[in-house]
Amino acid sequence: MAFESKIKTIEWVDNVSRMIDQTILPYEFKTVDVKTAEEMYFAIKDMIVRGAPAIGIAGAHGVSLAAIELANTTTDKVEFLKKLNEKAEYLKSSRPTAVNLMWAVDKQMELANSINGYVEDIKNALVKNGVKLENEDIEINKKMGDYGAEVVPKGATILTHCNAGALATVGYGTALGVIRSAYAKDPTIKVFADETRPRQQGARLTTWELTQDGIPTTLITDGMCSYFMSKGMIDMVVVGADRIAANGDTANKIGTYTVAIAAKYHNVPFYIAAPLSTIDTSIKSGKEIPIEERSHEEVTHINGDWVCAKEVNVINPGFDVTPHELITGIITEKGILKPNFEESIKKAFEEK
Ligand code: MRU
Repeated sequence: MAFESKIKTIEWVDNVSRMIDQTILPYEFKTVDVKTAEEMYFAIKDMIVRGAPAIGIAGAHGVSLAAIELANTTTDKVEFLKKLNEKAEYLKSSRPTAVNLMWAVDKQMELANSINGYVEDIKNALVKNGVKLENEDIEINKKMGDYGAEVVPKGATILTHCNAGALATVGYGTALGVIRSAYAKDPTIKVFADETRPRQQGARLTTWELTQDGIPTTLITDGMCSYFMSKGMIDMVVVGADRIAANGDTANKIGTYTVAIAAKYHNVPFYIAAPLSTIDTSIKSGKEIPIEERSHEEVTHINGDWVCAKEVNVINPGFDVTPHELITGIITEKGILKPNFEESIKKAFEEK
């Protein structure tokens, strides 16, 4: 059963990509109109839009915007496709870890190259396809929500890390989609949200969107999860993913791996919720997943203020990889994939 979330994170409106500015939530709610491929590159890089499925759709819209710009400069199809391909590669370089970005941009380019028509036809097809991918994202999330809700115990307290919600997708969410669907069936369930340092997507975004929907949420800091698991206060963990390798190893926001180890130790089921577009079957294991290194200022500062000695060394990987052995199941739009993941992932793609 679907629980309607009012949040629409990214939307194609009158030939612009309109998105919620996630850098200023929860202090201010504002949308931004992204009008060019270059603006889209920076919207993704600077995390105005973030979360794997949402940046996938942003990439698809980015190709549509590039097509609109280029169609104003040339009617030569060969030149148009060459320049479009350059813009597509540029968009893909905005962030390295979430594979949905590459997936969606490549989908757009496959379409562009397959059209037997004029530049104008390619442009129109890309715009239409961007909107189609946008609408499909919500449908996929609702399917995942339904499958995931089946494994949520009655009255459960669910821990989540980062924001894998409506704000990380077009709407409804992956991990938070599971929580929304479970809550629609059982309003006694509760959520514990990790703060998620350094950018605090859990504190700033997850608590914002869950409280909007009236889902009971408790904010904890990242180091507290083992403590609450040891007290028997967490019944299950559900998180999203940025890239899943063919063997099930999963990259997600930094700190996810720590949660998975704690969950294994305390016998708490640990689930990933992600669409098949997050699974990168071209890589065998998590060792091959590129991990983004982000600005050191995210660690040294909070809200613009220094929080450490100015001379200290800093490292800031944005993601970590949870080994597949720690994962109970991967909730997808095709059902819940179980270990052996190499086999269940292969099967899910064969049935696609
Ligand atoms: O750096 P972010 O905020 O883009 O990282 C987001 C995450 O790690 C999410 O958990 C992941 O993208 C899944 S979103 C459905």
